Amino acid sequence: MADVVSKTALDCGIVIEDDWPGYNIDLFSSPTHYSGDLDCVYIPHGVIMDRTERLARNIMDDLGDHDLVVLCVLKGGYQFSADLVEGIKTLSRNSNRSIPMRVHFIRLKSYLNDQSTEDLQIIGAEDLSFLNGKNVLIVEAIVDTGNTLKMLLKHVEGFRPKMIKVAGLLVKRVPHSVACLPDYVGFEIPNRFVVGYALDYNEYFRDLDHICILSESGKMKYKI
Ligand code: HPA
Ligand code: MG
Repeated sequence: MADVVSKTALDCGIVIEDDWPGYNIDLFSSPTHYSGDLDCVYIPHGVIMDRTERLARNIMDDLGDHDLVVLCVLKGGYQFSADLVEGIKTLSRNSNRSIPMRVHFIRLKSYLNDQSTEDLQIIGAEDLSFLNGKNVLIVEAIVDTGNTLKMLLKHVEGFRPKMIKVAGLLVKRVPHSVACLPDYVGFEIPNRFVVGYALDYNEYFRDLDHICILSESGKMKYKI
């Protein structure tokens, strides 16, 4: 993990400032079943893909030539994992260096509506003994307080992998974050609730390609 003190500009990824208004939703195409539910396109799908391509290259530069176990954190991480793995595969096909990859899925659950709840469950991580001596890349869609990541790291470290790296598509600037950041960061974003690209609001909006901000009526419509 990169500690906060030695963080360089590139470690933060693309920084989205607090006053970023996003793009008008009608400048892009999005599913009609979500019309009226979204305020703006915060990060267009194409930008996510371009950034992910570069993260794949950075990972390849650092970890090429070693076997890798990709630990995808579901459900939110499925799209980022798939695209990141695809990017690494493409680089492996087109260069002399290549990374043999295994992909494993675990699931964390802690959000209700747009609020984090205290009790966190890890599903599918009971026996990770196959991680012993391996290089592990944890792939998360979003890191906010860092508490979840810290807990997950502790759990994974217990299985004595050779190395653990973390790729996070989004890191939120939150007031009480623990000093624990992903090694590979896509975007640093303000402390706002986002949906799309597999990130959900009560299981909706995973089927949206862009990362967007919910409208008030969208929040009400899918509230439970
Ligand atoms: N959106 C969706 N899921 C999340 C978020 C978010 O902003 N933060 C943590 N889980
Ligand atoms: Mg969720």
